[in-house]
Amino acid sequence: MQKFVSLVLKFTMLSIAGSAVASPEMLRKYNCTACHSEDKKKYGPPYQQIALRYADDAAAAEKLAKKIKSGGAGAWGNTPMPPQTRVTDEDALAIAQYILSVK
Ligand code: HEC
Repeated sequence: MQKFVSLVLKFTMLSIAGSAVASPEMLRKYNCTACHSEDKKKYGPPYQQIALRYADDAAAAEKLAKKIKSGGAGAWGNTPMPPQTRVTDEDALAIAQYILSVK
């Protein structure tokens, strides 16, 4: 049991150390900037508004990471966001965390 716990800990630490750090460059790389900007509404909602809306939601990063990959409508209006299938799970989570930190 102890061995298992220390393995899990090691793995967690490794994955934190190795996780992708999202930045505005990543949003450009995936072309999110075509529809989103930091502070102005384009085709999609601005990151600032998204960060504000989910400020008190501890599960927001995971929810948004899923939404980035699967797309959908209804959270901000009827305009749908197309699924962003090129984004890896790791990048989606890193990007979601980044967006939630935009002020
Ligand atoms: C074709 C335009 C378009 C592109 C490209 C696009 N989005 Fe969106 N995005 C939207 C629209 C429209 C919405 C609002 C959807 C809704 O109302 O549920 C949205 C919503 C979101 C939300 C908020 C979701 C929620 O449920 O509150 C996040 C986060 C987001 N986009 C991130 C991204 C990221 C990251 C990328 C690039 C990998 C991206 N978007 C690419 C149009 C786009």
